[in-house]
Amino acid sequence: MFSKFEPYRIKTVEPIPLTTRENRQKYLEEVAFNPNCLKANQVTIDLMSDSGANALSCKQWSAMMQADESYAGADSFYTFETTVKKITGFPFIVPVHQGRAAEKILFKVILSETQVAYSNGFFDTTRDHILQNKVKAINIDTEAESRDFMGNIDCRKLEEMLSKDDQKVGVVVMTITNGEKGGWPVSIANIKEAAAICRKHNVLFYADACRFAENTWFIKTRENGFKDKTPSQIALEMFNEFDGCIISAKKDGICNIGGVFATRQREVFENFSQECILAEGHITYGGLAGRDLEAIAVGLTEALDEHYLQHRIEMVQEFGRMLELNGATILEPGGHAIFVDANKALPHIPRNQHPAWALTCALYVEGGIRAYEYGNIKFGYKDENGKDVYSYREFVRLAIPRRVYTMSHLKYVAEVFGKVIQNASKVRGLTIVRSPPFLGLFAIEMKEV
Ligand code: F0G
Repeated sequence: MFSKFEPYRIKTVEPIPLTTRENRQKYLEEVAFNPNCLKANQVTIDLMSDSGANALSCKQWSAMMQADESYAGADSFYTFETTVKKITGFPFIVPVHQGRAAEKILFKVILSETQVAYSNGFFDTTRDHILQNKVKAINIDTEAESRDFMGNIDCRKLEEMLSKDDQKVGVVVMTITNGEKGGWPVSIANIKEAAAICRKHNVLFYADACRFAENTWFIKTRENGFKDKTPSQIALEMFNEFDGCIISAKKDGICNIGGVFATRQREVFENFSQECILAEGHITYGGLAGRDLEAIAVGLTEALDEHYLQHRIEMVQEFGRMLELNGATILEPGGHAIFVDANKALPHIPRNQHPAWALTCALYVEGGIRAYEYGNIKFGYKDENGKDVYSYREFVRLAIPRRVYTMSHLKYVAEVFGKVIQNASKVRGLTIVRSPPFLGLFAIEMKEV
């Protein structure tokens, strides 16, 4: 077998910021040990998020040059609408400036106070937009039985919850892939079963489909009966089960900005459109420029290309293997990121000194790598008695932007990780100096213990 390679070649290059260890130590102290506050030009390999940090293709750039920037009814909107209709099968399409804009409007439109919403894994903005409507947002456990589709919702539990009082349930949101749990895929069988349960109880069933294209690849390669279908056919079959969806084009739209709302419910579409005009702008641009709409139309199509998808998913899996070889304990690799267990990497740091946060700082100082804490700072909270409730995980997420880094960049990251592990005992825990009520993760200040 020949070596695998990126299914694209590089036409435009961007130098990577190279820094010294001494400078990195200084930069980190300047931002009070919060890597999220570093300037991007202080970061060598930025794996903070796969969102919006994608590289556009030459087709996207050339479509952008031909964009129609008319205020309303621009050609670029119709190109966008036609593409989204073709990919999702939904008849009513509205662009928005990013995924959370669609969440904010959709939940305002479909939910009412005292209701409850269920999911296989709410993203934090999704959950918070639901909470803003005084609706409870509850995650149902994922089905641990199948290692291939660990993002699946537990349908027995779903049936049980909806049987209790389906009148109270405002919506079930299926997140594909299940980002917060590990970027884990959801099978078509699971989507179909959950959809049937929702139909039986007359409950809305929406997809948070930010990483829908990655999900199709797992279905194609792992689920019985799909190996001869194209990612586009699988996407259509998936979307067919839902009442509608939201998509952040910053993920599988392979764009830097943008989002999509799509539905088959005329009334929801009409109400959404009203709110969209107030919050995002006319429904044929939704807070975006014509060139953004063009880039999304091409990006969504490219995200379903088999060569692209195979390479993307295999790259993430291979990155996981390299990290393991260098001593990491990781979650089962998903579609967009690898999650590293910080308790295992830094066993000498107690939970109240934030091992995952300490690991993100250590990765930065060692090699200029920026990762994202998925532990107690993000998920922990205080109960009614002021007692700390630790998150069930203490992880670091290394998310891979699309088409940006090559395998050699990721090999370097794995090596840096290995070095951190070798010198683990030197990494120090941290305590919180200042924790603002909002934007916690993006403004928190820490100091070394
Ligand atoms: N849903 C999921 C599953 C997400 O991962 C995100 C964003 C959103 C919705 C919101 O979309 O950013 O376009 O407003 N996730 C990013 C991340 C920020 O780093 O995982 P958005």
